[in-house]
Parts: sequence; structure tokens; C-alpha cells
Amino acid sequence: MSEEHWNTLKTRCESCQSCPLGKTRTNLVFGVGNREADLMFVGEAPGQAEDEQGIPFVGAAGKLLDRYLFAVGIPRESVYIANILKCRPPHNRDPLPEEEDACIGHLRKQVKLIQPKIIVCLGRISAMRLIKPDFRITREHGQFIRKGDYLMTAVYHPAALLRDASKKEDMLLDMERIKQQLDLLQSN
Ligand code: URA
Repeated sequence: MSEEHWNTLKTRCESCQSCPLGKTRTNLVFGVGNREADLMFVGEAPGQAEDEQGIPFVGAAGKLLDRYLFAVGIPRESVYIANILKCRPPHNRDPLPEEEDACIGHLRKQVKLIQPKIIVCLGRISAMRLIKPDFRITREHGQFIRKGDYLMTAVYHPAALLRDASKKEDMLLDMERIKQQLDLLQSN
């Protein structure tokens, strides 16, 4: 897809004031990575480090995500990483439904431009928005479902793993399965 489409979308996001977070952000956190990625990760919203740097998943949770990507042999630069919200909610509170409604169109356009084979939701909030509203992360993480053109799954949010190390084993298994699925789809 063309550079022009990406530039238009980025410019639109940079001037977006569709919700009050446009006024309180330091930087827009548009998304980062390979625009032709087969694998896309979608988190919830930027935290402090992301707001300061304008890049998703660069704080403590992001560093842990990097370790899982490395562990299963997926180079970070081969994937695309974005969030449901492009601006940081104050004090890292959960996104409000109206903020998600205001922002989700930007993410949908990114997905359409990238056309990934697999979309991985990082955490409950992303899964509830992108997979189904009653998604239960403890029960349904790691399961794959097809939604239209995309194979979708959700894993624990890395920040949840920082709070509860007992989830780390499941996370590694889920990430290994994601890598297997990716290899399978790329070999077809
Ligand atoms: N948590 C998220 O959901 N997204 C980020 O970019 C950083 C932390």
C-alpha cells in the first residue's frame, strides 16, 4: 500500500481531537514496525514512556514483550505494533468506551493498509474490543478465531505478567503457538 495512504492517515491522527486525550497527550503514539507485516500486535493504550517517546511498548511492559518475541524467534522489526488508543489516558487509567469509539477508526485503517495474516490482542481490553465484548482473557487466551480476513488471538498483557509471574508460562506457550501459526501461514 502506498506511502501516500500512510502519510494521510498519520497526518489525520496527528491533528485528531475527536476525544479529550488529544489535548493531554505529549506525543501521538501512532504505531511502529513493518507496514507489510504478517503479524500485528494491538495493545490497549500508551503509558508514560510511550507518551514521552511516541512509540508503542517501549516501557517495562514493552521490554517484556520484546523478550517473548526474542524467545520464540520473531524479530520485533518484522511485526507491526499499535494500540486501541493512540493517546495516553491520564494516570494510565483504562480507556473509556467513548475514547475507544473515537479512536478505533484509525486502527481499522492501519489494519486495512497492513493486511496482516494474524492479529494478536495484547490483554483483555484489546481482546474485548477486537474479538468480542465478553472475551475472558484467563479462559480464552491463546485460542485462535477467524474473523473475516484475519486470524485473531489474544495473550495476556505484558503488564499483567509483571504483576503476576504465574501467567508467564502460559504466555510463552501462547507465543510459541503464534509463531507456529505464522510459519504455517507463511509457508502456504
Ligand atoms: N501498554 C499498552 O497497552 N500499550 C503500550 O503501548 C504500552 C503499554
